[in-house]
Amino acid sequence: MLHKRYLLPLLAACSAAVEISVASSGGNATSNLQYGIMEEEINYCGDGGLYAELIRNRAFQGGSSYPSNLDAWIPVDGSALSLQNLSKPLSSALPTSVNVKGSGKAGLTNLGWWGIDVREQKYTGSFYVKGTYNGTFTASLQANETGEVFASTEVVSKSVRGAWTQHEFTLTPSKAASNTKNTFSITFDASETVDGSLDFNLISLFPPTWNDRPNGLRKDLMQAMADFAPKFLRFPGGNNLEGDTLAGRWKWNETIGPLKDRPGRATTWTYQETTGLGLVEYMEWCDDLGVEPILGIWAGFALNGDAIPESELGPYVQDVLDELEFLTGSTDTDLGALRASLGHPEPWTIKYVEVGNEDNLNEGLESYTSYRFRVFHDAIKEKYPDIIILASTVELTFPEGAGGDYHLYDTPDNFVSKFNYFDQFSPDHPILLGEIAAIQLNGREIVWGGDAHFSMYPWWIGTVAEAVFLLGAERNADKVLGTTYAPFFMNLANYQWSPTFLAFNADPDQTARSTSWHLYSLFSHNSFTNTLPTTSNDTWGPLYYVAGVDSATDSHIFKAAVYNSTADVPVSLTFDGVKSGTTAQLTVLTADDALGMNEVGASDIVASQTSTVTAGANGVFDFSLPNLSVAVLKTVA
Ligand code: AHR
Repeated sequence: MLHKRYLLPLLAACSAAVEISVASSGGNATSNLQYGIMEEEINYCGDGGLYAELIRNRAFQGGSSYPSNLDAWIPVDGSALSLQNLSKPLSSALPTSVNVKGSGKAGLTNLGWWGIDVREQKYTGSFYVKGTYNGTFTASLQANETGEVFASTEVVSKSVRGAWTQHEFTLTPSKAASNTKNTFSITFDASETVDGSLDFNLISLFPPTWNDRPNGLRKDLMQAMADFAPKFLRFPGGNNLEGDTLAGRWKWNETIGPLKDRPGRATTWTYQETTGLGLVEYMEWCDDLGVEPILGIWAGFALNGDAIPESELGPYVQDVLDELEFLTGSTDTDLGALRASLGHPEPWTIKYVEVGNEDNLNEGLESYTSYRFRVFHDAIKEKYPDIIILASTVELTFPEGAGGDYHLYDTPDNFVSKFNYFDQFSPDHPILLGEIAAIQLNGREIVWGGDAHFSMYPWWIGTVAEAVFLLGAERNADKVLGTTYAPFFMNLANYQWSPTFLAFNADPDQTARSTSWHLYSLFSHNSFTNTLPTTSNDTWGPLYYVAGVDSATDSHIFKAAVYNSTADVPVSLTFDGVKSGTTAQLTVLTADDALGMNEVGASDIVASQTSTVTAGANGVFDFSLPNLSVAVLKTVA
């Protein structure tokens, strides 16, 4: 039998529209978390990305996986830089510092996260130094190639022989640099020191941050998130939660408190992270965007396949209960008081906890289904009965009230083929789509591991296929808790995995909001509170859709995507109870090139057109959707 898509030109020639009638009741209440964010310290997305610190390798953090080094640092005027583990380190967490030795002007220069953005704004900096010195330091921002100084300030030394002293300063360039090939330097007069050298550590410089938070987040990336109206943040992973080894797991208590007390850790993505973006900063991120935290907790399993035996899980379960007390406990509890001492007396609310990450992979399923999930689930439920627990897979029998997390990385065609995937699930067990992305072209094999070679950026036909899949999820919005793209961010200067939702470099003006960002933004800004049943004279494909109502505005909403049609698809849409003369806004996203991508520093390829459609006789909205389009029609109350 010929697939219907091959008959479409004939249908189009006959002007036969897809007739869709939307009932006025009988659907389901939807989850209010439909589109969210995923964070997992990949692609220099935290350090070097969202975390606004401009200095790379600021505290020479390292360990057995990635030893301390002088990456990103170069000497000034022939100074000698050497890493040292002094008998009196800055802190036990930051044992390694740099000794800067010279004669006359000495110092060190940082290259930033592959560039530094310099503009007319206030930069806030600090550094620790040890050694007798009665002179001044000079902190400056300058062009790497020409040496042009954009800002410079003198910092009077308080440095003494036997102790580490923090120095603070600000820099306000009087002009913006024309590109990000800029550096940051600290210099001093070595002739005024005892032996021509001083020791430095934790050298930091921040631009203005989102909501002006100290130790805060990069404004352009926060804006790009805020603009798509996200509803949740899933963190801290992803594989990064698991760690490469049991010892390398993400440890919440090592990511909080003063920066000098955070040792950093080896990510699972080939680099050491500072953990400057730690648990408190994740929660502040949720607060600042008004999104629901979905907290991933470590579930006794590492990426190398090692699992903690059931008899030894006790301390790890206690660690999770401690983390929850830290986040949600009153200030009468020890850990609630600790949180208050870090500036957050008000407890946070945690409604969702996910146990582990992808425990169906790397031979984790057997231990997960036989004891690991149950042990963590039961302990959390006993102390926090209101928390909804999500398994990190859907391949298990859920206990009452629990749900799971489903991930999909696939080709566009395979996304479309899963339009009905969620019809099989039960609303009693909510499903999070914690990681989804079209990653490979149709007809190409998806190869994982070292040979992985995926699309550089989301591309338009992949985005439309994701839309079809998301429409299937929204039709089951009483079962599907929410959806997020993954990985979410990528620093183009150094990354491990493409494609991502947002890609960037050191220049905030070049950040790329992907084609999929447009999809999430359109769907997220047009959420409904209830789905509504539909009937049609046609079967699914090439037009896919869902309908619902938003009780807050009393608007009727129709979301659709057209995938692989040979002609425009005419649609005749009625909503039961919506009369002739009612107006609606129809927004249609298209792109000229099915393989087009939104690249860093390039212009946006997605066209968004909004028009007003008026319901004709019998309340029919007539309109037409082109091939490879995503659309939302919303009645104006
Ligand atoms: O998003 C990239 C990785 O893909 C995640 O860390 C992991 O959960 C998945 O395999």
